[in-house]
Amino acid sequence: MDGFQGKRIVLTGASRGVGFEAAKLFLAAGAEIIGTGRDPERLKKATGDLQKIGKFYPVLADFDNPTAPSAVAAEVSARWPALDMLLNNAAVQTYKKDWAGEGLELLNQQWRCNVFAPHELIFHLVGLLEKGDQPRIVNVSSGAGNVQALRTSSDMPTYRLTKYAMGGMTILWATTLKGKVAVNCLDPGWLKTDLGGPNAPGVPADGGQRMWEICSLPWTETGKFWYGNKEISF
Ligand SMILES: NC(=O)c1ccc[n+]([C@@H]2O[C@H](COP(=O)([O-])OP(=O)(O)OC[C@H]3O[C@@H](n4cnc5c(N)ncnc54)[C@H](OP(=O)(O)O)[C@@H]3O)[C@@H](O)[C@H]2O)c1
Repeated sequence: MDGFQGKRIVLTGASRGVGFEAAKLFLAAGAEIIGTGRDPERLKKATGDLQKIGKFYPVLADFDNPTAPSAVAAEVSARWPALDMLLNNAAVQTYKKDWAGEGLELLNQQWRCNVFAPHELIFHLVGLLEKGDQPRIVNVSSGAGNVQALRTSSDMPTYRLTKYAMGGMTILWATTLKGKVAVNCLDPGWLKTDLGGPNAPGVPADGGQRMWEICSLPWTETGKFWYGNKEISF
């Protein structure tokens, strides 16, 4: 395959922010995307825009629902006999000052979307990925979850913990799938998306570009954390 031409991609959280920007780039390069969103109206609007660029197939999925990852995987296997890229991008972040402010309900909800759903998607789609062309998994994490950040900042602890866990999950899957599927973690940067807020220095398109860069790394790179194409510490 030439670049991303003809690549079959599953991208979660394609309806806005980093996912939407990354989708635009990969579609323009000739890839096909099954893209998920949680809100029907937002996904419909994004689908209209993305289908003007290329082959985009929307799938509604609310990862608060434990059956959503297996339902997405069923849609993928109904469409394609193999998968080249799984981009686990969807996440929630509800900023609170500390654990007491966040409480246990939020802890459960964020773990479901930010950790269990990506893990379960890998679990269900690994068979199709192993049949893909130089297959890759990218787990979108955050600098907020690296070890140094945990030592110095304790706000939004649930989000930080989910992203820290995503690092461990990435390393474990990379070890399991070595030589079969490249598995890496991306920090897209602090960006002016709904999640990043208006004070962020970057724009959503920067995150799309960093997704493109990590997906363009040599396929042999695996089990690492990247800011675009620059390696960073877990
Ligand atoms: N923005 C930043 O500054 C920043 C920094 C570091 C890391 N990140 C990471 O980058 C990734 C993308 O973030 P973003 O800034 O683009 O976020 P965003 O603009 O808030 O978009 C979030 C996306 O995830 C989907 N989503 C949210 N909750 C969901 C749920 N429960 N089930 C299914 N889908 C759900 C949303 O779908 P709907 O539109 O349907 O709600 C949307 O497509 C995330 O993993 C985030 O942690 C972002």
